[in-house]
Amino acid sequence: MKTLIKYSFFCCILCLASCSKDDSDYKPIDLVYQLDFEGLPTPNIASDNLLTNAGVALGRRLFYETKLSKDNSMSCATCHVQANAFSDINRFSLGVEGLPGKRQAMAIFNMAWNNNEFFWDGRAHLLRDQALMPIQDPLEMNETLTNVIDKLETIPDYIERFDEVFGSPEINEFRISLALEQFMNTIVSNKSKYDKVQLGKATFTTSEERGRMLFFNQFNPVNPNLSGANCAHCHGGANFENNDYMNNGLDIDADMVDIGRGDVINNDLYRGTFKVPSLRNIELTPPYMHDGRFNTLEEVVDHYNNGIKISSTLNSTLASVQNNGGFQLSEQDKVDLVAFLKTLTDYELINNPKFSDPFN
Ligand code: HEC
Ligand code: HEC
Repeated sequence: MKTLIKYSFFCCILCLASCSKDDSDYKPIDLVYQLDFEGLPTPNIASDNLLTNAGVALGRRLFYETKLSKDNSMSCATCHVQANAFSDINRFSLGVEGLPGKRQAMAIFNMAWNNNEFFWDGRAHLLRDQALMPIQDPLEMNETLTNVIDKLETIPDYIERFDEVFGSPEINEFRISLALEQFMNTIVSNKSKYDKVQLGKATFTTSEERGRMLFFNQFNPVNPNLSGANCAHCHGGANFENNDYMNNGLDIDADMVDIGRGDVINNDLYRGTFKVPSLRNIELTPPYMHDGRFNTLEEVVDHYNNGIKISSTLNSTLASVQNNGGFQLSEQDKVDLVAFLKTLTDYELINNPKFSDPFN
């Protein structure tokens, strides 16, 4: 009731000020946010949520806002830490109740190029749908959206910002999700050494260049000199991912505790498949895989080299390599592959003040 009176009051003020504008025909006066995505394809920004400076700034505050959690102690950034390319180095992040989640936190960058749903199992359709889930997740922030809105409404700065972004001061869950979507869409990673080499502004060392070949070349048991580890088969394109859900041989059927995508779409062909994650910034985001089972990139490379487990949904390319004796990488090959992976680290991303905590 209190909220209703408040809304009516603000609506009156707004009507007096600007006649009869509603959300749909409201055009933000603020300038369009300029997204730097040099070297990357055109991003998929939803046409009903174009980036504005005010919208991005609001989303950034909400991303770092601890009032989104039950005991006001945790924000999105607690588990999505800028220094780690917006991921968590804990195997399972602890939520407000001190209980661990069930999966390793994912890194958040280049979300605007993700066009096949969100989370390890893709259970969130759009980024805006995803944004409200951790708030309500009992193992994460464990708060109700009604409480979040009530808390934000006590802060005049938020009322002003929602007004500026959406054309009226109402704070609701849809607007919170749109603002978070805007901010997350601005977190672009395109300034790694790899990107600089693509633009002719840097060169790979001999080891990195060998690693690059191993990453992109196909497995070729007939000609070991040309044989690669075929990582780009799945981790391909500008973002080193393929927008698909696959099984990379972590477990045999009987050992699958978490069946990932198979559970979401209720399809046995996807049992034990997970999103193929981007390998950009991979050096900064240990531990690895949906359950954080590997602590180092060396362990990951060993897994692909000779640890692939055969199961009913194992990717057929990896299955055929495994059946032919594995990738047979030498110690030097492994060192070079890891050296190449480290060229995907973007130090400008983790030091960019545009993405840091606005309350500090
Ligand atoms: C307690 C730790 C925690 C908090 C707090 C948290 N997250 Fe996450 N986040 C995770 C984990 C763990 C995953 C992977 C979960 C899964 O796949 O089931 C994840 C996944 C994501 C993804 C999916 C990325 C992708 O590539 O699909 C996005 C986006 C995201 N979180 C945004 C947010 C936002 C926005 C907030 C704040 C409203 C938030 N997170 C709060 C731990 C957290
Ligand atoms: C058949 C597709 C496929 C191929 C080929 C492949 N990967 Fe993966 N990769 C995946 C999938 C799927 C995951 C996520 C698996 C999970 O967590 O259950 C993954 C996860 C990873 C991760 C962990 C990412 C994170 O955020 O935790 C790294 C690192 C990685 N792969 C590196 C490589 C390297 C290096 C190669 C080549 C030797 C390679 N991958 C080949 C599909 C593939």
